[in-house]
Amino acid sequence: MENWDNLRERCINCTACPLCETRTNVVFGSGSTNAEILFIGEGPGEQEDLKGEAFVGRAGKLLDDMLAIIGLNRSNIYITNIVKCRPPKNRDPLNTEQEACIKWLRKQTALLKPKIIVCLGRIAAARIIGPDFKITRDHGKWYKANEFSIMALYHPSALLRDPSKRPETFLDLKELKRKIKEICTHTYN
Ligand code: URA
Ligand code: SF4
Repeated sequence: MENWDNLRERCINCTACPLCETRTNVVFGSGSTNAEILFIGEGPGEQEDLKGEAFVGRAGKLLDDMLAIIGLNRSNIYITNIVKCRPPKNRDPLNTEQEACIKWLRKQTALLKPKIIVCLGRIAAARIIGPDFKITRDHGKWYKANEFSIMALYHPSALLRDPSKRPETFLDLKELKRKIKEICTHTYN
């Protein structure tokens, strides 16, 4: 039977795609393994690759602020990425790399059994929600798959590049909070 420890151990030794050749560390994911809410980013950046932790760079700081707005923090969510190794120069992960890596995310999701999945940005949303997903059009909308309620937010890196998207993200966060109150059972502030 799979558990979090042996899954992490197998993942951090993965060589299933060429990103293993250029990574410093595999970024498996972190947070609470009892979380009801799973956040999924795109892939590790430079800081994440160096530290082996998800969302610890500039985008991660903004993500912390976004979580705080709705009473969440790193210890009451789980956070990981579509690909667990950094794409060189932070390029988009290739489809082949995403396909090689998605098995780890599937196993993480099966262990966590979240109620809500939040995709951070276009790459995660296209992979999890569907290839026709358009982040500018479809952020903040709810989708349903395998009993999970799924929505996408703009990626914090996009919000750093284009602060004019922040008001929309604020509304999306309020909607996320509403859904949490509706379907989650843990208490959040
Ligand atoms: N961007 C991501 O998508 N994931 C991280 O872990 C860091 C930055
Ligand atoms: Fe394995 Fe994923 Fe890293 Fe590729 S990106 S080597 S599939 S862990």
